[in-house]
Amino acid sequence: MKHLIDPTDFTKEELDEVVALGLEIIADRAKYREVLRYHKLGTLFYEPSTRTRLSFTAAMMELGGNVLGFSDAANSSVSKGETVADTIRVVENFADIVAMRHPLEGAPYVASLHSHIPIINAGDGSHAHPTQTLTDLLTITRELGHIDGITIGFCGDLKFGRTVHSLIKALSRYKDVKVVLIAPDELRLPSYIKSDVCDKLGIPYREVHRLEDAISELDVLYMTRVQRERFLDEDEYERVKDSFVLDAAKMALAKKDMAVLHPLPRVNEIAPEVDSDPRAAYFRQTENGKFVRMALQYLLLKWKDDPNHVMPEHPEYFEDKSLRCTNVKCISTHEAVRPLFHSENGVVRCVYCDHKISK
Ligand code: CP
Repeated sequence: MKHLIDPTDFTKEELDEVVALGLEIIADRAKYREVLRYHKLGTLFYEPSTRTRLSFTAAMMELGGNVLGFSDAANSSVSKGETVADTIRVVENFADIVAMRHPLEGAPYVASLHSHIPIINAGDGSHAHPTQTLTDLLTITRELGHIDGITIGFCGDLKFGRTVHSLIKALSRYKDVKVVLIAPDELRLPSYIKSDVCDKLGIPYREVHRLEDAISELDVLYMTRVQRERFLDEDEYERVKDSFVLDAAKMALAKKDMAVLHPLPRVNEIAPEVDSDPRAAYFRQTENGKFVRMALQYLLLKWKDDPNHVMPEHPEYFEDKSLRCTNVKCISTHEAVRPLFHSENGVVRCVYCDHKISK
């Protein structure tokens, strides 16, 4: 069985199949209107969401299926202390497939370890958001016609932005992609993504401090929110914040066919004057999210018993009861789960959240 917990759970061929089916559904929606009739999606959202939850819901409905679930953990038995493992053992009796958003990193992975139905990670803490990544891949394909060979700039909060981490991992599967990281020092991309993804998989990247220093070379500009509360020093936030705001003056420096993406919601990092620029693709991106989630649910259910579509093996994972993850946002620090780790180049990381373990 195949779950989608991290973008690297899918092979390049599987990523391509999801994007290709998304394009096919857009071209012939009537053909797919009843393909998941009598199927049910469980939406387990322990954290707020507008786009992800509603697009998953609309996607299942447009395929002829039904949806059940909760949009607030306070309305579920989690409020009585039920674990993720027990919740999934219950929900799999009622649903055929589950989309889970959780504030704790690794929670959807724990669900997948206990599930007999496909689990989709709809966002776990600052860790990963793979269906946003599928949305982004479909959007880049529709806007530019290709993903290979692009130069993409990521701007804003690259430290906590799970959409950025997931998309960079997925882009490592494509040819000749170049990355420009545009962020204040406080919000730079975590070093483990630079070393384990960019360096290891050969994605060239450079870091700059101002949007103006990179915008003219980009095919895609991926904007994210810079949140005031991430800064230790309020003066520092005031000093740098305008360097990460996209406005008409900065758009004038960009290529004529650059595509502006943003996972949304935005706060003030894209001025409303940019919305009417044809290169502003972020609301089209939201609609693509529905189409790609239609393709994903259809394929995960089709692949469920197919031995050609299984989760990747991780022979390097090991159990060590003497180690513990100290990330307070990791599921392993809240629920009793197996103490699983992986090690590379002498660095040990938690399997659930990828945080470095200090001995
Ligand atoms: N892009 C995204 O994940 O939006 P929501 O938080 O509204 O689901």
